[in-house]
Amino acid sequence: MSVDTFPIRRVDHVRHYVNNARQSAFFYQHTFGFSITGYNGLETGSKDQVDYLLEQNNIRLVFSAPLRPGHPMAEQISAHGDFVQDIAFEVDDVDWAWKTAIERGAVSAREPMWLEDDKGKVRIAAIHTYGDTVHSLINRDEYTGEFLPGFEARNEPGDGIGLLEIDHCVGNVELGKMNEWVDWYANILGFKNLISFDDADISTEYTALMSKVMASGNGRVKFPINEPAEGRKKSQIDEYLEFFGGAGVQHVALLTDDIVHTVSRLRARGIPFLSVPRTYYDSLVERVGQIDEDIDVLADLGILVDRDDEGYLLQIFTKPVTDRPTLFYEIIHRKGAKSFGKGNFKALFESIEREQALRGTL
Ligand code: FE2
Repeated sequence: MSVDTFPIRRVDHVRHYVNNARQSAFFYQHTFGFSITGYNGLETGSKDQVDYLLEQNNIRLVFSAPLRPGHPMAEQISAHGDFVQDIAFEVDDVDWAWKTAIERGAVSAREPMWLEDDKGKVRIAAIHTYGDTVHSLINRDEYTGEFLPGFEARNEPGDGIGLLEIDHCVGNVELGKMNEWVDWYANILGFKNLISFDDADISTEYTALMSKVMASGNGRVKFPINEPAEGRKKSQIDEYLEFFGGAGVQHVALLTDDIVHTVSRLRARGIPFLSVPRTYYDSLVERVGQIDEDIDVLADLGILVDRDDEGYLLQIFTKPVTDRPTLFYEIIHRKGAKSFGKGNFKALFESIEREQALRGTL
């Protein structure tokens, strides 16, 4: 029985730094079907920064933008474009978590402090991880408000598409840095290495990457970490690092329990996905065995399937949602499988390379 040396309840929220939070909130409301449930801005007394809170089932996203020239956020947005700046953890004891992380070698991004309003108080701190990404540490056990002090409740419902929770968040790091960050998550946050992929698993004719999946002590937080590997041409990870300007979050996987419904809705709302050749589906049953879904329906929607020892999973990847070829989303439906779709890597990477070729970055 292994001991959890850094208890984390769950991913509390994912915060994006963006140029225009109002338009980002509108986009995620009208495509992914999130409800806008909270707001913090000029009208609520925030003079320098605006934040929109969006929710769907157990997923919380925050979009934050600077309101004035010279704001420190603006420098990071200028460097990276819109990006995931914070994967926040809910913890039992913020002070213990922050102090323990620092003692184990983490760099502080925010010392523990109280945020307060008439609904109570929230304890918050943060530590730096790869690139300009941070992990906030949050406990709101003494808070009865919606999210964080300062936010006012908003009731602007989205038309939900069955997105349930964050399944995993993937980071891209520089060549040679994967093991450093794997060790960081192991030594500081007590994460365990679930799976490793090397370039023999993940390579096409042109490009390759290495990946290790790290998971928190209770298994609820899963962070695959990628680095580029030598290939004949520029890998998708190199492309990301170049356009992003260093290490950062590459994709966020959102869990659904009805992927046909979820993806149908996203497609109807204009979200573009990576596509695989129709021939992928010719050998699908041979590869993954019998599945509940109609293969023609999956083929029409471009949904991929993979099987492991415990069951199968269905997944699909959006094209980048930002101008730069950086952040994208995965929609994943698990039917027993706890893995990440290794059997789809080759077809997917060939699809990504077709996109890279169009961008002239292969
Ligand atoms: Fe993924």
